[in-house]
Amino acid sequence: MKVGILGTGSYLPERVLTNDDLAKIVDTNDEWIQTRTGIKERRIAADDQATSDLAYEAGLKAIEDANIDKNEIDLIIIATSTPDYSMPSSAAIVQDKLGIKASGFDLEAACTGFVYGLVTGYSFIKSGIYKKVLVIGADTFSRLLDWEDRGTCILFGDGAGAVVLGEVETGGYLSSDLQADGSGANELIVPSSGSKIPFTEEVLKNRDHYVKMNGREIFKFAVKVFPDTVEKSLEQANLNVDDIDMFIPHQANIRIIESIAKRFKQPLEKFYINLDKYGNTSAATIPIALDEAVKESRIKKGDKIIMVGFGGGLTYGSTIFQWSK
Ligand code: ACO
Repeated sequence: MKVGILGTGSYLPERVLTNDDLAKIVDTNDEWIQTRTGIKERRIAADDQATSDLAYEAGLKAIEDANIDKNEIDLIIIATSTPDYSMPSSAAIVQDKLGIKASGFDLEAACTGFVYGLVTGYSFIKSGIYKKVLVIGADTFSRLLDWEDRGTCILFGDGAGAVVLGEVETGGYLSSDLQADGSGANELIVPSSGSKIPFTEEVLKNRDHYVKMNGREIFKFAVKVFPDTVEKSLEQANLNVDDIDMFIPHQANIRIIESIAKRFKQPLEKFYINLDKYGNTSAATIPIALDEAVKESRIKKGDKIIMVGFGGGLTYGSTIFQWSK
């Protein structure tokens, strides 16, 4: 049985935050942000929007695009580092909003979360446990950002993307590689966000309830692991890098993407890029980019696409699909 993507969808909040807007909040400027990252603007969730709201909208669009009855969904996986709550899961909230009977859980692998989610959803179907899985990547990173830290607040935005996985006649999943390296856990971390460091006045003073990132280390890590995971997925699928029609990379920094294109001697046109519009939406970048690439007809039936993520954990991974529609 072949398992593939039946439909895609994405949702971006309406509020746009430009680099010039950010320059009014922290000591930065449009030129610095654009040159160092490629980002021009990002979207910020409305005050009354949480991750489940973004996830629901993207999920609904993916179900419509797949042209299936929503009741056919057996399982909802939401890849996110910014769930509505640590309990209950955002997947359970989305299940209720969709008004369907389905199982659901959240999956945390930071910006690699959607790639992990795709492989998990594929495995549930391939094993015969479920027939259709809704995989959503959704994050509301604006809620984790320290708006006094120009090293992080300029990079991220909010959004969600989704796919419906199910049986396909042609193409579908070809290979994957998932990796974790917790020795780099402190390079990208929200110190007081779980059982390790309870929330106290000290935490508030040190701003340890916000994301802390060692930008240079993450940059070096990304440039190192990206080719590594691409090669592993290519090898497993018995493919050459030239066989890939479209790269859907995690949208963190244009310089990372450019260096990968150069490393593989591939034209930049083979890399879908939308980080100029949305910044880094964490687990949502890959499914949003995939949805836009499909809707713009940049991906056609039979095309081989590789989705590549990296981020907190540290985690990284990739998966190759052949487009089925
Ligand atoms: N505006 C203006 N100046 C700034 C800003 C800013 N927003 N931020 C930093 N600077 C200054 C620094 O203070 C420094 O000044 P100095 O030379 O006087 O000390 C100078 O600019 C250079 O700083 P660097 O940190 O060396 O800048 P770099 O070129 O490394 O770019 C960046 C920083 C954009 C964060 C880059 O390192 C990067 O993109 N790293 C990867 C981050 C990433 O991908 N994170 C997401 C991972 S995915 C996930 O799981 C969430």
